[in-house]
Amino acid sequence: MKSVYITRCIPQVGIDLLAQHFNVRVNERPGKLTRQALLENIKDVDGVLSSGTDKIDAELMDLNPGIRCFSNYAVGFDNMDVAAATHRRVLCTNTPDVLTDSTAEMAWALLMAVARRVVESDRIMRTRQWVGWEPQEFLGGDITGKTLGVIGAGRIGTSIAMKSRGFDMEVLYSGRRHNPELEAKLNARFVDMDTLLQSSDFVSLSVALSAQTHHLIGARELALMKSTAYLINTARGPVIDEAALVEALKSKQIAGAGLDVYEFEPDMVEGLELLENTVLTTHIGSATHATRNAMAVKAASNLIAALNGDMPPDCLNPQALD
Ligand code: GLV
Repeated sequence: MKSVYITRCIPQVGIDLLAQHFNVRVNERPGKLTRQALLENIKDVDGVLSSGTDKIDAELMDLNPGIRCFSNYAVGFDNMDVAAATHRRVLCTNTPDVLTDSTAEMAWALLMAVARRVVESDRIMRTRQWVGWEPQEFLGGDITGKTLGVIGAGRIGTSIAMKSRGFDMEVLYSGRRHNPELEAKLNARFVDMDTLLQSSDFVSLSVALSAQTHHLIGARELALMKSTAYLINTARGPVIDEAALVEALKSKQIAGAGLDVYEFEPDMVEGLELLENTVLTTHIGSATHATRNAMAVKAASNLIAALNGDMPPDCLNPQALD
């Protein structure tokens, strides 16, 4: 019987599914697996169910050339060297679609929380510092009728944009290509990124992390944004130059930021934690019960298909089998 290693304790439904087909070993310890432990545990398996916190690279593949598939428990796959895998005829898969809406909802949770200062106000209440209603306390930004700029209008960016309908927002987007759905349903305008940054009241990031998108938002881009605008990131931390963001927030160059991801997770650049004009969450974009279960089923199904000699539904490199 083939065997698989699961690097993080994913929902049981995925483990049970894999156990119907293979010998399954799971890392049950919370926290990121050390490199050493990852290398040790993949030595004798046929497939690996990895997470975004595991670096899946050539060293790993060469350590055990018997591995046929790395199935990532995430839609993002910047942790995987897909080219190295293709070269070695190893399949890589991810978990698209099932987390689109929950991640878009998280972007909206951050957007609303930062614009309406929900976390700051909550903190005052729960520390018993509130002394009563004030006409000018916790004034924030409006949402209805404002302009939403979506950078990266793929699945998640599209969903974020579509959810603006209830707020009658004007939608701008930038990215690699036109998105006919957004243009038809929202009258969204495809603009270059500088125009989007200059014109939006909310800028939301949904690009995959790559060499091209690393520090896509730095000091220059932040300086283009309105002083009343907010930046939302549910994509990947390194898309923003976090030190430059801290400076822009400190100097009130922009009004605030809602961040779910960080440049050096689980750390953050010094000073970010001291800024009141931020809402900071812990990379929980896909963290709903149903979504994480669905991701577990998807990641398991991809691995089962690959190890049974079929093309996995969410294969990132089908050309590996050419
Ligand atoms: C989470 O960050 C994911 O890529 O699924």
